[in-house]
Amino acid sequence: MIVNGTPYRTVWLDERTVCAIDQRRLPHTFTIARLSTHRETAAAIRDMLVRGAPCIGATAAYGLAQAALEAPDSGFASYVRAAEALLRATRPTAQNLFFALDRVMRVIGRAANPAEARAAAVTEANELADEDVAACKAIGDNGAPLLKDGMTVLTHCNAGWLATVDWGTALAPIYVAARNGVKLTVLADETRPRSQGSKLTAWELMQEGVDVQVIADNAAGFLLHRGEIDLCITGADRIAANGDVANKIGTYEKAVVAHANGVPFYVAAPRSTFDFACATGADIPIEERDQSEVLVVSGVDADGVPHDVMIAPAGARARNPAFDVTPARYIAGLVTDEGVFDADSRALSRLADAG
Ligand code: MRU
Repeated sequence: MIVNGTPYRTVWLDERTVCAIDQRRLPHTFTIARLSTHRETAAAIRDMLVRGAPCIGATAAYGLAQAALEAPDSGFASYVRAAEALLRATRPTAQNLFFALDRVMRVIGRAANPAEARAAAVTEANELADEDVAACKAIGDNGAPLLKDGMTVLTHCNAGWLATVDWGTALAPIYVAARNGVKLTVLADETRPRSQGSKLTAWELMQEGVDVQVIADNAAGFLLHRGEIDLCITGADRIAANGDVANKIGTYEKAVVAHANGVPFYVAAPRSTFDFACATGADIPIEERDQSEVLVVSGVDADGVPHDVMIAPAGARARNPAFDVTPARYIAGLVTDEGVFDADSRALSRLADAG
């Protein structure tokens, strides 16, 4: 995607350095972080310098390749295994993290010696990133026919190109439709506590010239009930074999209200987000993050100076589940790189077989 006239991916490898757009500083500052060790890369995933399931996966793949480049010949295997364990422990819900690490570990495991393993790990991480771009573009092509001229579309969190390597998942059909001349209005849920909707989704849609309005998290139900939203589409962090979807906290309640009001609720994700080893959403681990994310908001003042602001009494405690699970029955369809599937085990077994 283009930022201020320059094409960017969210993450890439430059020799032994992982480069990534620092999403914690958006929308106010656009900077590229340079992560010079796999430990810095793991911290960047954990601290959400990068976020969004496919972007987490690609970053982890580069982090593991980076570890292979760092590892000494003697003790190579144990160094890489420790790096894999560190990266695996960064974010528990996004399936793409485990998919990516398994892939890079597989090629490392097949290599005859450390030099071969280093080269194979870098190649695999680059291929994984390229495949993510292609999959997200295919999601865009497969989902764009759902979007008709004049529609108002609700989305939650950020499932745009920032959440992937490029194109996005939920926003990819919007980008493809918009480039085909389809006029859409996007309502971006603010998405507390980290506000990925107001900070990231609004920013990237504005970069692409798509009409977007931010709404407070608790406004969607009212607008759905009034018939002011034609379609909802979100991304996913992990999809179980029966079509249940784990995604950013708040997705579940939007899906239920959309269903109650007869508005189709779609979920868009590449195949790397599906976890066929999870029979249902109850098997998906749900991350709980630090309470400070709920109690403190960050932004800039009128002069562009950043501030953190307490929004609860000193000493208040908070709960911060980062994801929820939407049962498959509320989902109108799963938009994937392989086509649009019903959210049920029978339809998804075809997708499992395709992989
Ligand atoms: O906590 P985050 O920002 O990593 O959560 C991101 C989401 O929930 C996205 O909706 C999801 O990863 C889909 S990304 C294309």
